[in-house]
Amino acid sequence: MDLFNDLTGKLGKVQDVYIEMLSEVVTDEKNLKLALFFIVFNPLFWNTAARLEYKTHFLTKITGSAKRGCYVLAVTIFSLGIVRDYFFHQALMQQPTSRVLDTDAVRKAGMVLSAFGQVLVATSMYQLGVTGTYLGDYFGILMDNIVTAFPFNVSNNPMYHGSTLTFLGTSLYYGKAAGVFATVLVNLVYNIAQQFEEPFTAQIYAKRDAERTKKSS
Ligand SMILES: *[C@@H]1O[C@H](CO)[C@@H](O)[C@H](O)[C@H]1NC(C)=O
Repeated sequence: MDLFNDLTGKLGKVQDVYIEMLSEVVTDEKNLKLALFFIVFNPLFWNTAARLEYKTHFLTKITGSAKRGCYVLAVTIFSLGIVRDYFFHQALMQQPTSRVLDTDAVRKAGMVLSAFGQVLVATSMYQLGVTGTYLGDYFGILMDNIVTAFPFNVSNNPMYHGSTLTFLGTSLYYGKAAGVFATVLVNLVYNIAQQFEEPFTAQIYAKRDAERTKKSS
């Protein structure tokens, strides 16, 4: 009975914090709306463009080579990311500081999480290279081997996990409730994107491996 009371008490507190934070979000703000738009739009854009490339090779045709096509897509995706991050940052600056999050412990946790997130993103890019990071497999540019070194030994998708942690860390560092809720959306769209990308990538590599075995036999 005590345990039950204790548990419901704790859940009640979590709910209080949640409701408090929800009340601290200024929803009617232009930068926040734009940040949320790009959070959803960007993964939609790169998945659509990459699949279209796979089907029609339109970027390879326009630029004259798969590698150049992939670099064009990479620069586009990277730029869209900068635009999204810009509006996210502007949005955070416009939001009130949350009473719940306004503590040194939260700020420190935010710093650690966003630093770790950026390490995941940077090392993942270092391991995969430009074409490996930016959907090169859709252009027929495949990695020779699966990368298992850090950060891939701590995360199966260090790009997405690192990016999500950076959003969360930045939001906590500035103590903004709206940022924390935006991070929930980031996590959701990345999870959905991952569900589209992973089977597709696996299929492209399975096809390559089947052809390799055929050649060697
Ligand atoms: C991942 O690799 C890094 C660098 O090689 C290593 O320091 C770390 O302990 C590894 N982590 C796990 C969970 O295996």
